[in-house]
Amino acid sequence: MTSITAARLATVLGPWRTRGPAYTALADRIRLVALDGRLAHGTRLPAERDLASALGLSRTTVAGAYARLRDAGVLESRRGSGSFVSLGARPAADAAMEGIPLDFTKAALPAAGPVAACYAAATTLLGPELSRSGYEITGHPALREAVARHFERRGVPTDPEQILVTSGAQHAIALLSRVLVAPGDRALIEQPTYPHAIDALQAVRARPVPVPVDVESGWDLAEAEAALRDAGPALGYVMPDFQNPTGASLREDERERLARAADRHGTVLVADETTMWLDLRRGPRRPLAGFSPAVVTVGGLGKLAWGGLRVGWIRASRSLVTRVAQSRTSLDLGTPVFEQLVAVELLARENELVAERRVRLGAGLAALRGALAEDFPRWMVPDPDGGLAVWLDCSPWSSSELVLGAREEGLALTAGPRFGLHGAFEGRLRLPFTDTPDAIRAAVRALRRAADRHASGPLTEPLVAV
Ligand SMILES: Cc1ncc(COP(=O)(O)O)c(C=O)c1O
Repeated sequence: MTSITAARLATVLGPWRTRGPAYTALADRIRLVALDGRLAHGTRLPAERDLASALGLSRTTVAGAYARLRDAGVLESRRGSGSFVSLGARPAADAAMEGIPLDFTKAALPAAGPVAACYAAATTLLGPELSRSGYEITGHPALREAVARHFERRGVPTDPEQILVTSGAQHAIALLSRVLVAPGDRALIEQPTYPHAIDALQAVRARPVPVPVDVESGWDLAEAEAALRDAGPALGYVMPDFQNPTGASLREDERERLARAADRHGTVLVADETTMWLDLRRGPRRPLAGFSPAVVTVGGLGKLAWGGLRVGWIRASRSLVTRVAQSRTSLDLGTPVFEQLVAVELLARENELVAERRVRLGAGLAALRGALAEDFPRWMVPDPDGGLAVWLDCSPWSSSELVLGAREEGLALTAGPRFGLHGAFEGRLRLPFTDTPDAIRAAVRALRRAADRHASGPLTEPLVAV
């Protein structure tokens, strides 16, 4: 059973007060952090008295908030043992989407045009596979070869034995976290970062060391160097290309500087290249793995082709590939063969897929920027040169306030703090441009209506510094 202390919950909640009654604002914020995964199903909440004292409230206010959450089915109280977060039988992501038509919580695309043809082509290759066992824990040889060629085309010589095929990039991140991190080890992460990477590192009880990444100025490399030197992280998780959520990319000189610093201090850099293909206008850059043999790369076809394919990979030294394969056997015994054959077909059409994604995402970004310019003329909307989303300063509103209001308007979004640690980013909102222009315009209209619910002005509390 997981419990959360009153002090920790106060941090997770961030600046939660709105102009409405305190007990409703508190209940709304607890519900939001449960729905977006910051507070797991089954977590025991602090006793009313403890939370009241941590938040400087009366016990009656907290009791009122808990009662409201019980009525909404988000809290379950068991006599004598406390109050537990309850999302019913549904995972948080499903619970968050119930009855909400516009899902902007995921920065994900539908299948690209050639995907169906690649599935069809793979069926013609299946025959000979069926006379074999199908168990290949490191991956099908044809896909390992195709992924190795993909790295070679980008200037990083790679032997197929350095490739381990996984069931998606998330699987790869989780496997590497298990192998490279012991409980209590430090792990360097970008702040903000991809939320499920935080989840994977928390699952192995890593202690995160955040390093700032900004839409305009990119990585704070001086801080990254200091963190590598002072904290000695076992692992450093970075997204060098079109970072999720900022869209920022590391320049080549910065890649070299970061790889050198990690080598000096014995940190294994894990470069997540899932979003690498989503280039609107930047042009290719040498992969981080090109700057040090110690860099481990994670990739996958979820964004380039389709999330439903569930094929990803790890590129690492042969010995690390072996260690990961050994650790994997307690979880699964390989990635489905058929999907790997589809992935081989898709990689052969990489250029076509990249071009298609560029058109789709370019239209999405233009629609998003156009709609925001109309409905939120005072917002400075970033113009990223790739990726899936804009990461914008949503002041004077708080991100959570907008997200809660948007739910009432039929739009699901993820609040800024889900992308960071310790309640940071209440002043930021991630808006994906992966949907159709019409859906994007409808989402911005819904967001405007949500903002109008709070039209009386900014929050009564200052926003957390970003
Ligand atoms: C940066 C990043 N890494 C990994 C993933 C997960 O990819 P996959 O669907 O291949 O598991 C995502 C998906 O959103 C992502 O944005």
